[in-house]
Amino acid sequence: MEEKINLLKQKREIIRKGGGDERVSDQHNKGKQTARERLEQFLDEGSFIEVGTFVQGDLQDASTLDIPLPGEGVVTGYGTVDGRLVYVFAQDFTVSGGSLGEYHAKKICRVMDLAARNGAPFIGINDSGGARIQEGVMSLDGYGNIFFRNTINSGVIPQISVIMGPSAGGAVYSPALTDFVFMVDKTSYMFITGPQVIKAVTGEDVTPDKLGGAATHNDTSGVAHFRAANEQECFEKLRKLLSFLPSNNLNDPPVFDVVEPTLPAEDLATLVPVDANKPYDVVEVISRIVDGSEFFQVQEHYAKNAVVGFARMGGKSVGIIANQAKFLAGCLDINSSDKIARFVRFCDCFNIPLLTFVDVPGYLPGVHQEYGGIIRHGAKILYAYSEATVPQISVILRKAYGGAYIAMNCRALGADFAFAWPTAEIAVMGPEGATNIIYRRDIEKSENPNQVRTQKVDEYRERYANPYVTAARGWIDDVIEPEDTRHHLLAALESLQDKHEERPNKKHGNFPV
Ligand code: HXC
Repeated sequence: MEEKINLLKQKREIIRKGGGDERVSDQHNKGKQTARERLEQFLDEGSFIEVGTFVQGDLQDASTLDIPLPGEGVVTGYGTVDGRLVYVFAQDFTVSGGSLGEYHAKKICRVMDLAARNGAPFIGINDSGGARIQEGVMSLDGYGNIFFRNTINSGVIPQISVIMGPSAGGAVYSPALTDFVFMVDKTSYMFITGPQVIKAVTGEDVTPDKLGGAATHNDTSGVAHFRAANEQECFEKLRKLLSFLPSNNLNDPPVFDVVEPTLPAEDLATLVPVDANKPYDVVEVISRIVDGSEFFQVQEHYAKNAVVGFARMGGKSVGIIANQAKFLAGCLDINSSDKIARFVRFCDCFNIPLLTFVDVPGYLPGVHQEYGGIIRHGAKILYAYSEATVPQISVILRKAYGGAYIAMNCRALGADFAFAWPTAEIAVMGPEGATNIIYRRDIEKSENPNQVRTQKVDEYRERYANPYVTAARGWIDDVIEPEDTRHHLLAALESLQDKHEERPNKKHGNFPV
């Protein structure tokens, strides 16, 4: 027996050491932790339980101590975050560059299946050279199995990817299929083709970081949702994100103690300038309404003309969507449409009510936007809100014009309640544009066109661009004072907490992509 236990201990030790001391120190010298160090830092202390420790590829003799690829280059298992179960994998770059072979993929698929079966989030820590070249098509098949599970499990359990090293080639598509992607400055990068191939094919010179680093994917491509300065900060953000999410689509997110906003609601009356052309920071508005004034932004650096993220109201998670007047006047464009639609769909999958703060002049006009497909991208917001069955409440802060009024979750798209501040202007278009069209003849005929135009703009604003025309039709449930917004939202959320809405049975809709 003693001999057998010794063999077990020796095998376990070899596997724990991964690629050995030299490769571990290479990893540290790059500013990266090992797979096991990462799991230790991320999970509750001592909670990690490994699954599949002794998995080994076909061509090796599993009865000996000859283990050429310890752990097959990936550590898999489960643990807890703030006491809640999560399933994880962490690729081990010290073993064959964390490359993905047949059994490496099998280990990942095993924890994906366990996560789905047990209704717990699935988190992948990626640090890999991609498909293990020596295993050829077996590696590709392994990726296929992972992509399939990412897709089937989408909307069942939260799936989150953390990129902490290279993620190249087809390997980027598992993260792309998950709900959220975290990246770390300087050490992580994602691209389907690296700088050398790009140089050979297109002649473009680009560094790996510029091509696919954390800044690029957070600011420019929108592939990533969170950016961290280092691994520790990345895991702190990930734990924070998990605190807003349920473990699966049949559960609700965890409930916390109610904390009143720390910033005063009285400021709301002056924070948003009455002049619809003046910018302000909508995050300042949100933080005066939500619990503890705490708003956790998603894709903070991307499509900044829209703001999305998580907060709590009355201790419960909500998803917040808002137009950001200080960027592009808060217009909806291609990128913000994608950002909003994906966030709305995530919240709807996972029973998180939606609060939408509206101040939008319209969809962004321009040849570039039309050529880029603003029509199909803009349609995503309409589809996402219409499809959503979670509680939905919108508050019109200032302007809400044209198609963008509809898109920002008007009652017709499914908002359960719509409120407006007295400063709200709801119309087909802004007073200036509308006046130039409907009073064009009057203006042209007049001896003083500028004076007539100004007078007509004022008349239009008074007659149409206010919340009362819409409220009179019942499409606004109430016109509220800014400082009472939290009170109205809390009451509305409470009244909607048992909301249940069915949609027609179908295989699935055809979401505009
Ligand atoms: C097998 C690999 C490997 C791979 C790295 N290694 N990538 N082994 N298959 N894909 C091994 C190296 O041989 C080396 O082994 C160890 O990992 C560390 O690699 P280094 O190159 O020394 O590290 P570094 O200088 O940090 O460079 C990391 C790297 C580079 C940028 C990731 O290794 C690289 O370019 N690898 C290939 C990337 C790639 O093209 N992958 C295929 C993508 S296509 P030793 O024993 O010397 O330490 C793909 C298709 C998937 O993934 C399709 C799915 C649909």
